[in-house]
Amino acid sequence: MTAVSLAALPSHSFHPRVYGVGAWTDNLYFAYDVVATLKPRLLVELGTDRGESYFAFCQSAAENATGTRCFAVDTWQGDAQAGGYDETTFREVSDHNAAHYAAFSMLLRCSFDDALDRFASESIELLHLDGLHTEAAVRQDLQAWLPKLKPGGILLMHDISVRVRDFGVWKVWEELRTSGRSFAFDAGPGLGVWQKPSGRALPEPLEPLLGGPHDSAAAFEAYYRDRAAATQQKIGQHWRDGTIRETAAAHQTIIQVFHTRDGIHREEESAVARVGHGSWKEVTIPLPARAGAAPLRIDFLSAFTSIEIAELTVRAGDEPIFTARSAAEFDGIGVAGDAERLAAASGLRLRVTGVDPQLYLPPLTVPEEHQGLSVMLRLRVTVDSPRR
Ligand SMILES: C[S@@+](CC[C@H](N)C(=O)[O-])C[C@H]1O[C@@H](n2cnc3c(N)ncnc32)[C@H](O)[C@@H]1O
Repeated sequence: MTAVSLAALPSHSFHPRVYGVGAWTDNLYFAYDVVATLKPRLLVELGTDRGESYFAFCQSAAENATGTRCFAVDTWQGDAQAGGYDETTFREVSDHNAAHYAAFSMLLRCSFDDALDRFASESIELLHLDGLHTEAAVRQDLQAWLPKLKPGGILLMHDISVRVRDFGVWKVWEELRTSGRSFAFDAGPGLGVWQKPSGRALPEPLEPLLGGPHDSAAAFEAYYRDRAAATQQKIGQHWRDGTIRETAAAHQTIIQVFHTRDGIHREEESAVARVGHGSWKEVTIPLPARAGAAPLRIDFLSAFTSIEIAELTVRAGDEPIFTARSAAEFDGIGVAGDAERLAAASGLRLRVTGVDPQLYLPPLTVPEEHQGLSVMLRLRVTVDSPRR
């Protein structure tokens, strides 16, 4: 029975068009199956960013002719955890949506609160919550949106396994999961699957997962883990053979600033922002209260690009505490990891040669009292052609 059910999952023939641009790679195949088998009449996603999860839902709705109307709600400006990003994201999501899913999918560029009135009470059959992940924000979003979910409908909550910084989805999930049938994919950032109580039976793969102890639940979980691992391997291969340049990941660069008070750089003490490629951009990345600069490290997730930096300024409040504009001033910044320093008449030019290029600023003395540190970069990123 398990083998037959697994073999019949619609996601066996799924080749995601969008992958590797968010934190959703672990759950793409499940997302595809949920839409294909539940065939929700109305699907709403809160928090879409580059569309990794949303376009898996949409691709399934299109390929399985589910008759689903899909809505993506996002300001497309980013938030304190996802980081800020420029207009490249909305333009790309909008173009992709228009090219493939215009018949049934609509992007609502507004706050979650402003979108509420667009949906009738108990009308949504599949709701995905993936906005700001602080406990307070998740509580507020759930309080506002759960009344819109139809009894028997499915809620997906992303990032239930993340316990760093101010991520608090896990706390809200712990309370919610027992108030209806639920299942948790713990791998990676984690995905909670919850059914609003109603007594309604669900199709596979949802019923064996949510229906309590069931032999086939472990088999479904293993299947999704294998599909996710294969996708991660494919992304790794794109980096190894350079074909990452041909994917959507190559259209934007993630800038990650590590701030430290003790000289050790940790993921949980970092802040991110994202810029699109091709033109000059100015980006300011605010650092959290009590951030140190002993020293600051700046990493770029950037697919084999050249990065020109015309200015890098660190401010404490409004006061600049470090500025580099000339080539001589940039000489004080170390280049490490997967990056080569190129000759430059002014500013800094880098060639990115792999997945982990790094800049090390000199250690900075931060004034005792200030209104918060921020890092401003004026930069242009262009994708290099493959070297022959
Ligand atoms: C974690 S990302 C979404 C990731 C996405 N689901 C994916 O597959 O990659 C969170 C997004 O939620 C948006 N967001 C956060 N809070 C919001 C709010 N209150 N209203 C509208 N958008 C919000 C941010 O702009 C950001 O793009």
